[in-house]
Amino acid sequence: MKYYVGIDLGTSGVKGVVFDRKGNVIYSHSEEYDILSSQSGYAEQNPRIWLEKTLSVLKNIGKQVWVKEVMGIGLSGQMHGLVLLDKEDNPLRNAIIWCDNRTSAEAKQIEEAIGLEKLKKITGNIAMAPFTLAKLLWVKNHEPAIYQKIDKVLLPKDYIAYMLTNRFYAEYSDTSGMQIMNIEKLEYAEDVLHCFDIPLKWFAKLIKSEDIRGYITEDIQKETGLKDVFVCGGAGDQSAGAIGSGILREEDASIVLGSSGVVYSPTETLFIADKGEVQTFSTAIYGKYHIMGVTNGCGTSLKWLRDKVFYKGYNDMTALASLAPCGSKNVFYLPYLMGERTPILDTDAKGVFIGLQNTTDEGILIRSVMEGVGYSIKDCFQLIKGNKKRIVISGGGANSLLYRKIIASMIHRPVVRIRQSEGAALGAAILAMVAGKEYATIEEACDSIIQIEDETKPDVLWEEEYEKGYTIYKKIYEQNKLIFKMIKEKENEVF
Ligand code: XUL
Repeated sequence: MKYYVGIDLGTSGVKGVVFDRKGNVIYSHSEEYDILSSQSGYAEQNPRIWLEKTLSVLKNIGKQVWVKEVMGIGLSGQMHGLVLLDKEDNPLRNAIIWCDNRTSAEAKQIEEAIGLEKLKKITGNIAMAPFTLAKLLWVKNHEPAIYQKIDKVLLPKDYIAYMLTNRFYAEYSDTSGMQIMNIEKLEYAEDVLHCFDIPLKWFAKLIKSEDIRGYITEDIQKETGLKDVFVCGGAGDQSAGAIGSGILREEDASIVLGSSGVVYSPTETLFIADKGEVQTFSTAIYGKYHIMGVTNGCGTSLKWLRDKVFYKGYNDMTALASLAPCGSKNVFYLPYLMGERTPILDTDAKGVFIGLQNTTDEGILIRSVMEGVGYSIKDCFQLIKGNKKRIVISGGGANSLLYRKIIASMIHRPVVRIRQSEGAALGAAILAMVAGKEYATIEEACDSIIQIEDETKPDVLWEEEYEKGYTIYKKIYEQNKLIFKMIKEKENEVF
């Protein structure tokens, strides 16, 4: 039997899952890490910790009796992060990750230097603070000594792949989220790089998601116990997740309740949003595109509540939330703990609870957080136009029936789960299966592996309640926009 590993380098941890060619899980191991936030709005992680934890996952796989059956590794990675290496391949600083909010000035700088229409035409998107180019310019503007030492610029999973194989490659789906790729030509946008004097040689050669980057080095073989294992291109987390959920066609959409909450749908032709309402990137299938709406504080909202407020496990929290009534007795939550992308594009926005009363208990607070995230998913869903036949829900949040029912009722559509619930890790492994010639194409692999597990239908009474709630939810942001700006100004005084 041949096995393939999907590694999902996420925001809260890295997970390695070993699959056979039918997508059955043979083994799984995860390691956690934290987001480092030295200032309000900052979000960083240490690339060496990613590597150490990924190696720990691989070492655990290396101890298994069937280790010789492992043929290849596919990587899925949190998108948009900036990893800077010096000439000796040492990280020059912590990686600035996707949910960091320090770069709104740089986003403006990009738009002014290139021009909005030209930028959209070249890269498929308006300038956005989370994208890698804005982060790179921030380093140029604020840390010139570090900027001068840059030899390589990599995305998180491509850094790991480089360390595993010593081959300097990147692939299209993740690179399209850097804002330095020509979205139509599928090559680096030299005009964009040139505009900011950024050398092209800093960036890795582009390959397809199912192309083989190379084999793990001898050092990594010795350290992990794996032998002759290849690493393929892989994909950004949302594109990998789409493959792992069989979302390949325009009639399909996915809702991922991960650290970020994402509504994703492939498009037949390249669609470029006028004002950045949705993001446009490459999928893991060469030459195909998708759009997505992103809510920054999805899983991070419940994680915050778990780690900083209630100190309870997710199962206990969901059990308490199930006792609270639909609509959380009019307690509302805005999930803007790390600013927000779709639809408000506001890096200054903050989390909010409103409507608290002396009867508000733990269960109500937890449910209101789920509902607040749900409303922001509804915001994204409304922008993904078209009549979607199948909506697949995945990510940690989708394990909760309550959460699934909240989402289905808010968007007035049933949501289905896939039997193979490993999402991005499965998608990454499928790319490795195609690289290993188990299947001729990604489509063929998905058609023979992915099966629907169950469907969650909207609840009519909840639908009514949430329609009313949504109007209030929208107003809460509108009414607080100015206050968020004032808080930002006050923060700036302190730092
Ligand atoms: C997509 C995005 C997320 C992150 C974290 O634009 O930012 O997918 O990669 O999950």
